[in-house]
Amino acid sequence: MNREDFPMLSTNYIYLDNGATTWKPKCVLDKVNDYYTKFTANAHRGDYDISLKVDNEYENARDLVKEFIHAKTRQEIIFTSGTTDSLNIIVDGFFKPNLEPGDEVIITESEHASNVLPWFRLAKTNGIVVKFCPLDDSHYVTLNNLKSVISPRTKVISLAMMTNVIGDLRPIKEICEFAHENNIFVVVDGAQSVPHIKTDVQELDCDFLAFSGHKMCGPTGIGVLYGKYELLDELEPKNLGGGMNESFDTVNDVYLKPLPTRLEAGTPNIEGAIGLGAAIEYLNQIGMDNITKHEHILRKRLVDKLKEISHINLVNEESDSGIVAFNVDGIFAQDVAVYLNKYNICVRAGNHCAKILKNEVGVKNTVRVSIYLYNTEEEIDNLVELLKDKNKILDEML
Ligand code: ALA
Repeated sequence: MNREDFPMLSTNYIYLDNGATTWKPKCVLDKVNDYYTKFTANAHRGDYDISLKVDNEYENARDLVKEFIHAKTRQEIIFTSGTTDSLNIIVDGFFKPNLEPGDEVIITESEHASNVLPWFRLAKTNGIVVKFCPLDDSHYVTLNNLKSVISPRTKVISLAMMTNVIGDLRPIKEICEFAHENNIFVVVDGAQSVPHIKTDVQELDCDFLAFSGHKMCGPTGIGVLYGKYELLDELEPKNLGGGMNESFDTVNDVYLKPLPTRLEAGTPNIEGAIGLGAAIEYLNQIGMDNITKHEHILRKRLVDKLKEISHINLVNEESDSGIVAFNVDGIFAQDVAVYLNKYNICVRAGNHCAKILKNEVGVKNTVRVSIYLYNTEEEIDNLVELLKDKNKILDEML
């Protein structure tokens, strides 16, 4: 990877908040800029050259996503505004009409709000029951723990593939195997996994997968909803409008287009989709396995060094990702982040939208470092140096 690829790397910042969003390589910025300076037109509507170019670029981005997650068909890829949008569409468009009062959905206490609140709303409006799978001592999901909360009423298991604070990787393939033997659907929140590890939806056999472009070097405001064809085909569109209908008349006879267009009403986020396509090409060129390996090396370096500092309490010493969550003894997490900011180091502090995780790990707020492909050993060492002296943090934090 060439650090010059990322214009933000020429700033003075050490960016370790990649779980929140990532920096963008020049090829992504160029692609978006080209759309606005060389071929601006709407998608799927024009009969002139540049509109055809837009269609080709937009649909090519869909093909790139399809290959990236190894979906069976391109119709299984729906562009949305992000993971949150995708998960809400899945819950409201597929499960709301299909679940009965008393049906059970299993999540965990380490899920992000986007994989909790849509289910809570469905519990309120439709009487479904949200149950929590217990986690093991390292805050991991195991198949046995999951089995302990399954009942004949369990209809859905909805889990992050990798969580955004603990960074644990869930055994989704095994979970899907077990779930499908028991007629249970599996929804996967891929926001923190798809950007960091190779994803193969056919191998996992998950029913739905949601992820965001901006966490994988793409633009903000673009995301993906993957679903198995036969399930997406049943999903009630969130929006009705232009582009997605085949015809309608005055007597309410409405005919919708086939997938994927049926679920993409209105003018799509064209620059977002083609920017995401460029991001995928960039990640492919580096190789997802190389990205995962690089993050593991940096994570180990960081954890090994933090373990030597007595006033650092690690929350997730064990983890499969580039996410490290910790606290400095007796200092509020946000104050640590403000102190690091003085040295141009960007980390996230707080509850990270995983507001019920506190029940599991015993602390409400943490400092979270999240690593990506452009971070270096030197950056990790700089961070550790600044954390070594607790008095310095206390003196300088405010
Ligand atoms: N979900 C994002 C994070 O974990 C914003 O920071």
